[in-house]
Amino acid sequence: MASLSLRLSAFFLLLLSGQLRQSLSYGVGINYGQIANNLPSPTRVLSLLQSVSITKVKLYDADPNVLRAFSNSNVEFIIGIRNEYLPNMTDPNKAIAWLKEHVQPHLPQTKITCITVGNEILNDSNTALMTVLLPAMQTVHEALVALGLDDQVNVTTAHSLTILGNSFPPSSGSFRQDYAGYLLPILNFHAQTKTPFLINAYPYFAYKANPSQVPLEYVLFEPNQGMTDPNTNLNYDNMLYAQIDAVYSAIKAMGHTDVDVRISETGWPSKGDEDEVGATPQNAGIYNGNLMKRIAKKEGTPMKPSEPIDIYVFALFNENLKPGPGSERNYGLFYPDGTPVYNIGQQQEGYLPQFTISSASLMKVTSGLIFLSITSLAFLI
Ligand SMILES: *[C@@H]1O[C@H](CO)[C@@H](O)[C@H](O)[C@H]1NC(C)=O
Ligand SMILES: *[C@@H]1O[C@H](CO)[C@@H](O)[C@H](O)[C@H]1NC(C)=O
Ligand SMILES: *[C@@H]1O[C@H](CO)[C@@H](O)[C@H](O)[C@H]1NC(C)=O
Repeated sequence: MASLSLRLSAFFLLLLSGQLRQSLSYGVGINYGQIANNLPSPTRVLSLLQSVSITKVKLYDADPNVLRAFSNSNVEFIIGIRNEYLPNMTDPNKAIAWLKEHVQPHLPQTKITCITVGNEILNDSNTALMTVLLPAMQTVHEALVALGLDDQVNVTTAHSLTILGNSFPPSSGSFRQDYAGYLLPILNFHAQTKTPFLINAYPYFAYKANPSQVPLEYVLFEPNQGMTDPNTNLNYDNMLYAQIDAVYSAIKAMGHTDVDVRISETGWPSKGDEDEVGATPQNAGIYNGNLMKRIAKKEGTPMKPSEPIDIYVFALFNENLKPGPGSERNYGLFYPDGTPVYNIGQQQEGYLPQFTISSASLMKVTSGLIFLSITSLAFLI
């Protein structure tokens, strides 16, 4: 017990040291997906996030249990309106009713700053939903105006990168022709309401599809010679920045230079099916660790060097009920019990002190909160 309290005070000392606090202030957001039947309570999740100083969370719905548990915390939320609700959201009365039920009761004690209306609606299948996407966004925005909440809450939607018809070189980025008709008025909406254009971007998909052609170092932000855009002469040392700039180019090609691009999802799976090359804890740790270092440096992309990248990592937890290939269930930084899936940053330079505590032994003798704090500290080193 004596050695335990010694270790605990060492932990709190570490927590208070400026070096550590600085290292924790990444400014990265995280996707809190909940397609699982084994996740910890929202109150424990709040402790976990506080212990790693993550203050930006994205939900795929408006789970009242989460929004209530995070009231009076310093955590800021992007919440979501699920795809199946979009047709109803084109009805002003239903949009107002939705906001009165899911948003208004939580304001201002829970900081809801943004609503995504649908997720990856522009894809290959459902044109009925594509058609209602912008009307639903507009109606939800007007409902916020009617309730006097539009100053506090943004309206946007999240796109997958399949909206790009061309993505390389980044300066030649363009949207798919069949989506252009949807995207131009959506861009007009973003410009008018000064709201960001969100993309879910996964260099992992490109690597998995073509591991012999795509250099692993280039997708993992590791040292490499990168790719030079022949039109601009700008050098890209990683694929994510090339993807972001391709989206900026596509937006510009539609006449807009007044819309910001933000990354609503990116990540790397720690495990996958046999044919999912590169899905390992090592690669996932390198990807997310290097990404967080870039975010800490407030780095911009080659085309937008003074616009720091804004990123929500996917995801907080492994989600055991997600459909699809094995990788889909293994994007989490944490297992549902709060232990880290891998250590971020350790592989590169270990700029946080090595902190080895047997979490198994601690679990027996400490409260859940301290246990969570310590395991999550371990996740950062
Ligand atoms: C849309 O609204 C109708 C009528 O109010 C309701 O019956 C239906 O359940 C709603 N759809 C969804 C997906 O909630
Ligand atoms: C709009 O959303 C972005 C998140 O992308 C956020 O940074 C900004 O503060 C939001 N604006 C308002 C008015 O809440
Ligand atoms: C496209 O969107 C529809 C409706 O949201 C969804 O059911 C489908 O799985 C999506 N397809 C792909 C390839 O993502």
